[in-house]
Parts: sequence; C-alpha cells; structure tokens
Amino acid sequence: MPCTALEGKVVWVSGATGALGAEICRQLAAAGASPVASSRSEDKLSALQTDIQPIGEISIIPVDIKQEATIRAVADEIVLRHGRIDALVNSTSISLFADFLDLDDEAWRDILDSKLMAYVRTCRAVIPHMIEQGGGSIINISGRSARQPLPTHLPGGCANAAVNLLTKGLADRYYNDNIRVNCVAPGPIESKRFSTIKSSHEKNESATGARPVLTRDIGQPLDIADAVLWLLSDRSKHLTGTVIPVDGGSTVCV
Ligand SMILES: NC(=O)c1ccc[n+]([C@@H]2O[C@H](COP(=O)([O-])OP(=O)(O)OC[C@H]3O[C@@H](n4cnc5c(N)ncnc54)[C@H](OP(=O)(O)O)[C@@H]3O)[C@@H](O)[C@H]2O)c1
Repeated sequence: MPCTALEGKVVWVSGATGALGAEICRQLAAAGASPVASSRSEDKLSALQTDIQPIGEISIIPVDIKQEATIRAVADEIVLRHGRIDALVNSTSISLFADFLDLDDEAWRDILDSKLMAYVRTCRAVIPHMIEQGGGSIINISGRSARQPLPTHLPGGCANAAVNLLTKGLADRYYNDNIRVNCVAPGPIESKRFSTIKSSHEKNESATGARPVLTRDIGQPLDIADAVLWLLSDRSKHLTGTVIPVDGGSTVCV
C-alpha cells in the first residue's frame, strides 16, 4: 500500500542505526517523509544517511538516549530545523542476554534504561510539541517477550511489557490532544540482535527449558517497517493504544 499520506511528515526515529530503525528510516524516506535518525554512533548515522540519501530525505542527530536533558534538546532541535515533529518511533535497546542469576542490578538497570526509560524520555520530550501543533503520532517497538517470556531475556521482556502498558496509558491520556500512540511487538526478526539472542538462547536451552525458535517464526526488518508506516499513516486513523504483534503468528497465547 503506498503511504502517500506520509509525504513531508517529520518523523524522529530513535534507535535508527539498528536493523529495524534503519529499515523504518529507509521506508519513510522512500514514502517521501523526512526521517530524523538518532542513535549514539555518529559514524553509523553518517553511513545510514549516505545509504538512504539517494532514496529520499534524511537528517541525523547523534544522542545518548540515557541523558534526559539531551533528549529534550533533540526534540527542540528537530522543531527548530523542521518547524514540527509529526511522529516519533522508539526502537532502542541493548543486546544483553543472560540467565536470571547471571544478571545483577546494574545489568537490569542498563536494559530498562535503554528501552523503557528511553521511551519515556523521548515521549516526554515530544508530547509538548505535539500538543502545541495540534496532534501527532507515536509508535513504540516492544517485542513478543512482553507476553511470552524468554528465560535469557527477562529484563528485556519486563521492559517490553511496560512499554505495552505505557502505550495504552499515553494513548488514553493524550487522546483529546489528537496524539495517537501505538505499539508494534515483533517476534524474532533477522538481525544482529536476533543472532545474539539466538546463541544465548541455545546455550541456555537445556538449563532454562527455553523453547527452540522455529524458522517460520523469523521475520524481516521490512515486516516491521511496513506495520510502522501503516500505523503512522492516516489509513490507521481509528487506532490508538493498540499493540500489534508482527510475529508470524508465533506468540503462543491470545
Ligand atoms: N531484532 C529482533 O529480533 C527484535 C525482536 C523483538 C523486538 N525487537 C525490538 O526492536 C527494537 C529494535 O531492534 P533492533 O534489532 O533494531 O536492535 P539493534 O540492532 O540492537 O539496535 C538498537 C538501536 O538502539 C540504539 N541505542 C542503544 N543504546 C542507545 C543509547 N544509549 N542512546 C542512543 N541510542 C541507543 C543503537 O544505536 P547505537 O548503539 O549506535 O547507540 C541502535 O540504533 C528494540 O527495541 C528491540 O528490543 C527486536
């Protein structure tokens, strides 16, 4: 489905150098939107910009998502450069997977800080701008582990479950401000992150009783980007507060 409704839309993609964030930026640029890509690594952002520029517009802002003041500055900078922020896509995380007793407080804090708290910070930074401009759209990427725990990914799963709840809470809170907030929950997606989780999973499979990952469960970054673009477009205007699993039907609960 062509997303012509996205033409000219200013979309901040946080975690843009990851497998999913990069594909989301690529598809946004192809749809005529103006993605603003952020992550910590200036080198990776520049490479992404070089890759996408032949397809369409993209700008970059390096930022550490753990620094609240800098996050606010990014939102202000986007408004300064583009005049508005139509949408935010949250797609950050760190690849730290281990069995429960091998994860100390610091590891838990790091994982929650890079995902749940990162999403809280970016939402807090963009919502005042969206209220002022009369609306906006936020997409949070959570994950299948929010509802189907993976033994070596419990902190990430807890972050994902909280992100699902945050999505519904913010959708309700800002409904009257015309801000839609939705969530995409990927199953395993072919990516560097998935390769890392798969090996930690297999290493711990016999000890933790983890289920094996089936080949049919594995999706592509484009599957996630397609869902995100649809949620950002007016074609989904009656949806807010939803969590859409994009997992090849692999979640084993309703
Ligand atoms: N891939 C999968 O199979 C899968 C499945 C389910 C859910 N998900 C979720 O989908 C999202 C994207 O996954 P992915 O595979 O694209 O992950 P990824 O390749 O590991 O990318 C993570 C992104 O987060 C950024 N990031 C991490 N810490 C940061 C910090 N402190 N400040 C700024 N940026 C930071 C990274 O950039 P820098 O390192 O350059 O800062 C990178 O751009 C994540 O939330 C993940 O949990 C992925």
